[in-house]
Amino acid sequence: MNRLRIALTKGRLQDNSLKLFERAGLDCSAVNEGGRKLIHEMKNYPMDIVLAKAPDVITYVEHGVCDLGIVGKDTIMEKGGAFYEVLDLGFGMCHFALAVLENESESFFDGFKTRCIATKYPAVAARYFEQKGMDVTIIKIEGSVELAPILGLADAIVDIVETGETLRQNGLKPIENVHSVSARLIVNTAAMKLYKSQIEDFIKKCEANK
Ligand code: PRP
Repeated sequence: MNRLRIALTKGRLQDNSLKLFERAGLDCSAVNEGGRKLIHEMKNYPMDIVLAKAPDVITYVEHGVCDLGIVGKDTIMEKGGAFYEVLDLGFGMCHFALAVLENESESFFDGFKTRCIATKYPAVAARYFEQKGMDVTIIKIEGSVELAPILGLADAIVDIVETGETLRQNGLKPIENVHSVSARLIVNTAAMKLYKSQIEDFIKKCEANK
């Protein structure tokens, strides 16, 4: 069997990905022993685990240096790319929401003023408002997007909501659900053909243990 490489999104999705692999009987103990090492071997399966940032998971899979990847639908929707999205893994569940300051939740859609939207996901936000036929200005923010309306930079945010706690604690309220998000298994298009049975076997293992 060929040795495959899977890129995992570091952080929130990493733990759930490893738990899924362990349930499927794949020995990922090297990752937990590994400190700051970024590539690890599965000890009982011909696969190596690469730890990467979410958008880089897509880049590595698209270019074929990783055969598979686990990444959030949020990153897939924002970055796009040519790969197969083969499985919804059922963890990392959250959603994109449009949120505003609590006292502006009734008036956001009123009037003709062009609204300013702050977001880490400009492509997702642009598509959403385009579908609504609403002309908006979008400002890209790198993190803690909730600050933008509080500081007066934006009228609203489009951001990931998981528990809703960050919005609540910062006086913001979701007014529309934009799209649901969860972790997805993606596969390089050439690898899917070259290592078909091996990749199908791995997808089955993930599906049976998710
Ligand atoms: C995400 C998101 C929200 C928060 C939502 O941010 O952008 O800020 O989590 O989670 P909650 O609904 O459970 O409160 P993240 O922690 O990834 O940090 P960042 O904003 O700095 O990117």
